[in-house]
Amino acid sequence: DDLLPIAGSIKARGGIYEVLKYAETLAINEDLLTINEDYSILAQDNFKNFFSNYTIQVGSTGNLGLSIGIISAKIGFKVKVHMSKDAKQWKKDLLRSKGVEVIEYLSDYSKAVEQGRKESENDPNSYFIDDENSKDLFLGYGVAGLRIKEQLEKMNIIVDENHPLFVYLPCGVGGGPGGVTYGLKLVYGDNVHCFFAEPTHSPAMLLGLMTGLHDKISVEDFGIDNKTEADGLAVGRPSSFVGKIMDKILSGIFTIEDNKLYKFLKALAIEENIYLEPSALAGFLGPVLISGKEGEDYLRKYNIFENKDNITHICWATGGSLVPENIMEEYINRV
Ligand SMILES: Cc1ncc(COP(=O)(O)O)c(C=O)c1O
Repeated sequence: DDLLPIAGSIKARGGIYEVLKYAETLAINEDLLTINEDYSILAQDNFKNFFSNYTIQVGSTGNLGLSIGIISAKIGFKVKVHMSKDAKQWKKDLLRSKGVEVIEYLSDYSKAVEQGRKESENDPNSYFIDDENSKDLFLGYGVAGLRIKEQLEKMNIIVDENHPLFVYLPCGVGGGPGGVTYGLKLVYGDNVHCFFAEPTHSPAMLLGLMTGLHDKISVEDFGIDNKTEADGLAVGRPSSFVGKIMDKILSGIFTIEDNKLYKFLKALAIEENIYLEPSALAGFLGPVLISGKEGEDYLRKYNIFENKDNITHICWATGGSLVPENIMEEYINRV
């Protein structure tokens, strides 16, 4: 997903879908568009003028803001992105260069979302894209299940009972990896095993699921500081909407230390010429853990151990292509 157009991250999937759906709904409701028309007319000036009467708002650690900010500004909407303290400066600069209003908070992601939601509620022409609760975002991410099916078929990679698929996804609030897991489960059922990866300092979904308390509990309640270089994963309180769905379909969650993210980042850059941002490396520990003792227990429990050489492992690379060159160099030289 680091190569997805426009936003260069997993957040392109849900964010762009929800903005386009909102634009379509507004235009249809005002009799400016019918579903049989050529939708390219939405790029015309009269539509841009129409959309400029509406504001889209979103709370973000960075990449959802990039995805929603860039596409909304292009369509003609006014856009306000409420950024948590973890958001990287280059992401804020990029958004401002596209005409997006960026509001910065000294607090974490949950607070930025809460403030954005509040501000949006006071304006009848404002639409809040809610990373914690949006079904549209979730469905946008979910389409990844169908895309993977196409890609694996083209590569002649079989997924069935004897050839299971293991997928490792970096998790922040849960929407992105949750949607992808949901889509994969619809396509492959029990033959796909999805795992989330969170920073050791931000294990929000892990604690939400283990306690069953979801968004009623945060990492701070456990004395964990929610400080990580993985900006996209710097979330202290998980989505309850996503957690309740994952409770039934997710295979497991593991945590990873920040210094390991940088080790994977460097190795991938040097050996594969693939340049990812720190958050996007979290899943790469998955195959290592599955090869160890806990992994063996899991594989035996599901009668996969004998077939373990048939497993296809996917580490979901969730972002990176928009990282400026000088910052990428700094990342690579970190370890
Ligand atoms: C690069 C990257 N990976 C993973 C995620 C996690 O997505 P979510 O917060 O929906 O769990 C994010 C979130 O912003 C991200 O930016």
